[in-house]
Amino acid sequence: MVNLGTKIKELKERQEKAILGGGEKAIAKQIAMGKLPVRARINALLDEGSFHEYDMFIEHDAREFGMDGKELPGDGVVIGTGTIHGHAVAIYAQDFTVAGGSLGSMHARKIVKMMDYALRMRIPLIGINDSGGARIQEGVNSLAGYGEIFFRNTLNSGVIPQISVILGPCAGGAVYSPALTDFVFVVENISKMFITGPEVIKSVLGEEISMEELGGARVHSEITGNAHFYAKTEQECFEQIKTLLSYIPWNNKDVNDTSKAKKAPSKKYDIEKIVPIDPTKPYDVRDVIRAITDGADFFEVQEKWAANIVIGYGHMGGRTIGFVANQPMVMAGVLDCDSSDKAARFIRFCDAFNIPLVTLEDMPGYLPGVDQEHAGVIRHGAKMLYAYSEATVPCVTVIIRKAYGGGYIAMNSRHLRADFVCAWPMAEIAVMGPEGAANIIFRKEIMEASDPEAMRKQKVKEYKEKFANPYVAAAKGYVDTVIEPKDTRKFILHAIEVSKNKQVGRPNKKHGIPPF
Ligand code: HXC
Repeated sequence: MVNLGTKIKELKERQEKAILGGGEKAIAKQIAMGKLPVRARINALLDEGSFHEYDMFIEHDAREFGMDGKELPGDGVVIGTGTIHGHAVAIYAQDFTVAGGSLGSMHARKIVKMMDYALRMRIPLIGINDSGGARIQEGVNSLAGYGEIFFRNTLNSGVIPQISVILGPCAGGAVYSPALTDFVFVVENISKMFITGPEVIKSVLGEEISMEELGGARVHSEITGNAHFYAKTEQECFEQIKTLLSYIPWNNKDVNDTSKAKKAPSKKYDIEKIVPIDPTKPYDVRDVIRAITDGADFFEVQEKWAANIVIGYGHMGGRTIGFVANQPMVMAGVLDCDSSDKAARFIRFCDAFNIPLVTLEDMPGYLPGVDQEHAGVIRHGAKMLYAYSEATVPCVTVIIRKAYGGGYIAMNSRHLRADFVCAWPMAEIAVMGPEGAANIIFRKEIMEASDPEAMRKQKVKEYKEKFANPYVAAAKGYVDTVIEPKDTRKFILHAIEVSKNKQVGRPNKKHGIPPF
């Protein structure tokens, strides 16, 4: 007799079969590589017991190349919703044990369902990528699936945060979904991202390279800048995602509140002892950030790439703030192609999600040299100008020491519409550093002097006294005030409070054309 018990038994059997994915052997192979099974990943990331899975019983519709009658549980991807910090998120996770997590049309349809759902519900989307790419047997249907995903990544951009986690291969055109999302997480020895793999490279170019050297976690965290967060294990990666989600809002209309904020470390940073007066001496600007945030709280983004600029989040007065800071410890904090790229994208994320921006400035300008010019420093540098000029969130700029040349403008000067600009008393704001300036404008006097070196020193001193200070800019109102370092936190907190209801107009347009 059919009763509820038999129906439940059948359901359970079907669930168990689906959950087994590609089978015990395939799961064991993944575990041996340091990878968690697909649902274990989801459960490790979400609040305990919060995951609700959908489309577990989906079936693929491929018929060619031996696919007819082939069973692919869940079609190689697990989708659903759950919570992190008690707030809803949408998630998909590819299952490499099922046809290598390859993307066929039903697999894509499941991902797309979650993307649409995340947009409609205005909740973050998290995608765990672990796949051999387009399912070769499904041909153009598989490519169509990727196209639908890329389109939605773009549609969702700036409305909900999109997070990509690379926990296995992510090859070919498949890499473009992560590239279109806001944050990419990678794990040592597990993540592999590339457009063309080692075998193609070998056959076309004759070059031999391992997958790890070509597109491993370190490569994308330190060289390409494709990844934002690097972890040694999957568990560490999930903790990083949860931390990120304790700073950023759930959508572009979400209030910037403290409910998701985590407890910050309590180490004390004495702001007056961090920055040397001598502008040639380095220091770690992250300590300045920690000295002004609530409880020394700072969560850095893209820590290992373009380290001459520091970006990341911290709380001030309970609100999330986006920090952009030159790093004098790395190449004197100079601006270049990569650091401009890094900062510009971060500024746009903060602006889209109503996160106020605090800019800390101490840099000698843009990096000179053939390499930079030929790498397109004009175009990349312009991205930063564009991003700051476009930003309408509250913007506060603190000029710590050096603010020279184009860098002075680019690091969110008054002229790009920073709301509040303050300078420390040792700030130097000028077209270029005193040495370079004196050599150019007093070249004739120096050359013709009986003691050229003494004359050069004197002219450098003269220039320093006249321009290498904050008071020329303050006299014009470009700098609102010169403050003692110890008052920096107070100044920023007040500026953010004053800007709480900030409203600015911009001309009507379909969209601008940033120097991508
Ligand atoms: C169909 C695939 C597949 C794919 C892997 N599999 N990739 N099936 N389409 N793209 C299957 C394998 O046949 C195998 O099935 C199972 O998944 C596990 O794969 P293995 O090769 O045994 O695993 P491993 O040795 O760990 O190697 C992983 C790999 C390799 C490096 C990812 O599978 C691989 O090179 N795959 C092809 C990668 C690729 O070229 N993809 C297309 C990229 S182009 P069985 O039945 O034996 O278990 C692309 C275009 C997208 O993605 C364009 C968007 C714009």
